[in-house]
Amino acid sequence: MYTLISGKEVSEKILEEIKQEVATLKKKPHLAAILVGEDPASQTYVNSKIKACERVGITSTLVKLRDETTEDILLQKIEELNLNADIDGYIVQLPLPKHISEQKIIETIHPAKDVDGFHPINIGKLVLNLPTYISATPYGIVQLLQHYNIVTQGKHCVVIGRSNIVGTPMSILMGKNNAHANCTVTLCHSKTENLSQYTLQADIVIAAMGKAHFVKADMIKEGAVVIDVGINRVPSTETKSGFKLVGDVDFIQVAPKCSYITPVPGGVGLMTIVSLLKNTLLAAKKEIYS
Ligand code: GUN
Repeated sequence: MYTLISGKEVSEKILEEIKQEVATLKKKPHLAAILVGEDPASQTYVNSKIKACERVGITSTLVKLRDETTEDILLQKIEELNLNADIDGYIVQLPLPKHISEQKIIETIHPAKDVDGFHPINIGKLVLNLPTYISATPYGIVQLLQHYNIVTQGKHCVVIGRSNIVGTPMSILMGKNNAHANCTVTLCHSKTENLSQYTLQADIVIAAMGKAHFVKADMIKEGAVVIDVGINRVPSTETKSGFKLVGDVDFIQVAPKCSYITPVPGGVGLMTIVSLLKNTLLAAKKEIYS
């Protein structure tokens, strides 16, 4: 029988801890979020982030820009936020419209205010094991593994997907020399030949390739820990909207083989918001950059 890793339970607990810590601060932390365009998923994510701020007493500012916003205007807005001493940290919700270079935008965010941990300086610090903002999804997963006392030391962790914001930083974190990591890590991706050969050897599988129900039972070793990062919209006759959200893992098939598994929704997704708020707290306390 597997244990369901409850992102809801863990995120609720950590949100309460953040709320209590915020209450002790003289000045409330202030997070800003820039949202460009009308992408429905991005709107939902940003709204959830703003709501979570309210809940824990973090001040939030939402900057909404039209889809047609030029790169120059967005860069100008970022410079404003960099200079605004009241704002401790901010995020630019991704993806951005095609005419804007995400890399240029990320590199313009001041590293001290980059609570998403996307700036090359912050990623570099992560690689070098220096204090930094760890990006939200990998940080959330680490907190879930810790909460359930899942042994990672000496284990083989297979990460599927090498995106800049999940797979790549996740693979680095799991290989770190500390008690909550110390894994042997394999980073698999779209060009990996015979993927199952790796996943079948894995004690921990982190699925982050963005393909609905891609991971099947015959790819997983008995007793493995499976962490599902996917949030895929698929057509559904079960819902009013005509679609539902499913993970990268075929949960029904895979769960019976696992020792632990995360559901979608209700797993990793809820933890990413918690991580963002934790990073905002670090920024407000000037713990990473004084
Ligand atoms: N788009 C998907 N995930 C994220 C995230 O963690 N931060 C930002 N800024 N955009 C995203």
